[in-house]
Amino acid sequence: MSSDDGLVIQAGDARVAVIGSGPAGIYTAQALTDPATPANVQVDVYDRLPVPYGLVRYGVAPDHPKIKSIIEQLRKVFERPSVRFLGNIQLGRDVTLAELRTYYDAIVVACGAGADQRLSVPGEDLPGSISATEFVSWYSGHPDTAATAIRLTAPSAAVIGAGNVALDVARMLLTSAERLRTTDVPDYVLDELAGNPIRDVYILARRGVTHAKFTSKELHEIGELPDVDVLLSSPEPQLDEQASHEFIGDPVRHHAIDVLRSFAQRKPRGTDKRLHLKFMTRPVAVIGTDRVQGLEVERTAIDSAGRVTGTGQIERLPVQLVVRSIGYRGLPTEGLPFDAAAGVIPHRHGAVLLAGRPVPGVYVAGWIKHGPNGLIGTNRKDASDTVATVFADLPGLPEAPRRDTDELLAVLRARGVDVVDWAGWQQIDRAEIVKGQVSGRGRVKLHDWTELLRVGASLREDAVNDGS
Ligand SMILES: Cc1cc2nc3c(=O)[nH]c(=O)nc-3n(C[C@H](O)[C@H](O)[C@H](O)COP(=O)(O)OP(=O)(O)OC[C@H]3O[C@@H](n4cnc5c(N)ncnc54)[C@H](O)[C@@H]3O)c2cc1C
Ligand SMILES: NC(=O)c1ccc[n+]([C@@H]2O[C@H](COP(=O)([O-])OP(=O)(O)OC[C@H]3O[C@@H](n4cnc5c(N)ncnc54)[C@H](OP(=O)(O)O)[C@@H]3O)[C@@H](O)[C@H]2O)c1
Repeated sequence: MSSDDGLVIQAGDARVAVIGSGPAGIYTAQALTDPATPANVQVDVYDRLPVPYGLVRYGVAPDHPKIKSIIEQLRKVFERPSVRFLGNIQLGRDVTLAELRTYYDAIVVACGAGADQRLSVPGEDLPGSISATEFVSWYSGHPDTAATAIRLTAPSAAVIGAGNVALDVARMLLTSAERLRTTDVPDYVLDELAGNPIRDVYILARRGVTHAKFTSKELHEIGELPDVDVLLSSPEPQLDEQASHEFIGDPVRHHAIDVLRSFAQRKPRGTDKRLHLKFMTRPVAVIGTDRVQGLEVERTAIDSAGRVTGTGQIERLPVQLVVRSIGYRGLPTEGLPFDAAAGVIPHRHGAVLLAGRPVPGVYVAGWIKHGPNGLIGTNRKDASDTVATVFADLPGLPEAPRRDTDELLAVLRARGVDVVDWAGWQQIDRAEIVKGQVSGRGRVKLHDWTELLRVGASLREDAVNDGS
């Protein structure tokens, strides 16, 4: 078989680079190396971080250990002999797409959606007005966010948005340090929570209860927090039986509305802390001179076209912290087309499109493909769809001119890139478990870049020193 470039790939011999070791990247590697597939594919999974698992490690809330335990399944993919983890290598900073294309027959970009959306209201950049992305990264111990980035000094906070991330943020703000003492959060999070003076958290949803994106399990959980009264700030007509009958065909929404209705029927216990759920409310200005001193909000209405409009009814909430939790946003990747409005890489069935035509051998999966929504498991089917396209294309793709991917790693190391491979990650993993044992916890995350690299790279350096 031949092509314009010479050799084409034989089914039994393909090399694929996956960019991103979150769920989408790992499910892609899993599908590419499935024993049931005819091809024998070697997969290198690159990540800009020295640790794998993306938002499962740095997004899923620390008090959700059951969800985090999906890591046990994801880990097995890296234990396959045909899959390697190559951490601390960022596409666009440490390695270019052109370099990868020299060594890999196909590249699947699964780099997630690392940025946040903006409210575009006055005062949004005042100190004390932050994104959920920043707050989540802080309590998750993400190395890009300093331990000192968040100071919890506000007695009242507003969280904008009606999704599950907003519930995570509100729950973490209202949670005691004690409740998190068995989790993997860095000690600085426990220290900050121990002195947290929070009393009131307002979750603001710009539409009504029937349009909120909360799911029932997460709503129920927040209603179970000790010492927190959940209050629906104004009785919502959509909570009546009639309204939820409209959604009888959508069990997910129906169950969530049931939980909201149960909140509306509760008698406040007079607890220390309160969670106020305010529907049909949007922020119009963050108030303050040198930091947040309040939030001006407007009662909304839905017009005949289903759009959110203002009613002119303004209220000022006495908050000192504003967290916008209005969705994540993908970032452009060096060398690849980007749909800036949607924050995704354009594609057809996972094949990247440039000016409507597929870029040969380059694919996408996960949040950077379909946008920042959906559960961990959603990315599994999404990755399989992309891999089906990869397999369909492989026989017609030109073979990468260089076959020795270790040669590329040597080039990167010579350039000063401190590659953290799977053995390096295992070293970090063990160090976190040992750190946890000291304080009677299963694990305490390392969060400092220097420390992560020192621990993650030391194994390799030892191996080099041993001559092995
Ligand atoms: C706060 C939060 C909590 C969540 N909680 C849950 C939950 O409880 N249950 C649930 O089912 N779902 C949850 N989700 C959704 C779930 O996390 C996502 O569906 C999933 O992580 C998306 O997978 P992904 O691989 O596309 O992106 P990510 O998980 O973000 O992974 C992308 C990876 O790419 C890497 N990367 C980025 N750019 C580059 C580059 N240039 N070069 C190399 N590597 C790069 C990143 O470091 C990262 O490791 C949550 C999401 C958020 C935001
Ligand atoms: N435990 C879990 O299972 C869990 C935990 C966390 C996250 N996740 C998943 O991760 C995904 C992302 O979650 P997410 O909460 O970031 O996103 P999301 O579910 O899309 O929710 C975003 C919210 O922000 C609102 N919003 C957007 N722009 C706004 C604006 N300018 N002003 C006011 N409100 C605005 C949206 O309202 P409109 O609807 O009106 O646009 C929506 O309520 C979801 O699929 C979620 O289920 C799951």
